[in-house]
This record gives sequence, structure tokens and C-alpha cells, in this order.
Amino acid sequence: MDLTTAMLTRRSEHHLVDPAPGDEEFAYLLKVAATAPDHGLLRPWRWILIRGDGRDELGACFAEEAPAERRAQAAAKARRAPLLASLVFTPAQGHRVPEWEQLAATSALTHSLMLLMHSRGFGSIWRTGASLRSPQVRQLLGLQDEEDLLGWLYIGTAKIGTSKPRRRPLCDVSSRLSRLSLPQQAAI
Ligand SMILES: Cc1cc2nc3c(=O)[nH]c(=O)nc-3n(C[C@H](O)[C@H](O)[C@H](O)COP(=O)(O)O)c2cc1C
Repeated sequence: MDLTTAMLTRRSEHHLVDPAPGDEEFAYLLKVAATAPDHGLLRPWRWILIRGDGRDELGACFAEEAPAERRAQAAAKARRAPLLASLVFTPAQGHRVPEWEQLAATSALTHSLMLLMHSRGFGSIWRTGASLRSPQVRQLLGLQDEEDLLGWLYIGTAKIGTSKPRRRPLCDVSSRLSRLSLPQQAAI
């Protein structure tokens, strides 16, 4: 699949089933995605893969955050895909590359990873929510104080018949695109 086609046809998938990429394939795709722009090559991120029953541990943390009548529903959310890849932002502290640039590099990497997975037939969706700041979730994942959880890529294969239309209409960028006009040129 060429890059333009991949970008035009990737959709966030809400209903994901097996198969998901295995650990080795995920690691390979991550290495490829890590070629995304990254000022200072700081790689200010790490990923924690959650599969199988590990998802129930995470689901239990989701449930703790939810009101009593919603706990079962919240717990089940962690089962919405065979693989949950937790994205942890690990900014280099006090570095000459400011933190916002490190966050931008992490976002660039994540989108690249989603495109690569799509090009191999895997679906994904980036999800966040209030549980990002949950002490239980942070403890389960073993996060350090200076690390931030940026969400999970829910990964698997799109359940047949549940995908959104593949090709999306392109957005009108005309009001967001301009040319710099220098005064002397304007006078010509
Ligand atoms: C940082 C980030 C966090 C997101 N969090 C959620 C989320 O918690 N739940 C959700 O349904 N969509 C979330 N989204 C939006 C979806 O990932 C997705 O972009 C959206 O459903 C649009 O689908 P599309 O990618 O097919 O255009 C998030 C997107 C980003 C970039």
C-alpha cells in the first residue's frame, strides 16, 4: 500500500478482534515508526503491551474510577481489543529540546505506528480518558512520577462489517493555508 492510500484509508477502528501483531512484529513496527521526526533523537516514550488476562487488571482499574452502576461496563472496556499498547511519555527533563517538542515527536511516532499497522491489515484506535491520571493505573503500569500516560492504542483486526467508510472526504484547508506576502512584493 502506498503512503497516500494508507493515509486516506486508515480509520480508527472501534471493534477489534484477533489477530493483533505479536510482540516481535510490534517491536519491528515501532522501530520503523521511530524514524519519525524527533528533535535530538530523544525517543521520549516507551510502550507497555497488555494482552490476554492483563487486560482484566487494567479493566479493574477502570472500574475503580467508575460509579458503582457502571463498574462492569468500565471493566469491559479493556477487552475491546486483543492488544492494548500503553503509550508512556518520558520527557527528558531540563533538556534544551523543550517538552512540547518531545510531545510533538511522540505524537508523530504514534501516527506513523498507526499507519504502519494499517498498511499490514491491523486496525487501531487511540483512546485516552480520565483513567490516564488514575493512581491505580499508574501503579499497575509502574509509571515514574515524571512520566505521563498518553493513552492506549487499542490494536487488532477490524471486525467484519464494523469499519467506517474507508475513504474519507478531504477537508477544505483553504482558510488554513496562506502565502507570506512581503511588503515590497505587494507593491509590485
Ligand atoms: C490523543 C487522542 C486521544 C483520543 N482519545 C479518544 C478516546 O478516548 N475515545 C475515543 O473514542 N476517541 C478518542 N480519540 C479519537 C480517535 O482516536 C479517532 O481519532 C477518532 O475516532 C476519529 O476517527 P478517525 O481516526 O477514523 O478519523 C482520540 C484521539 C487522539 C489523537
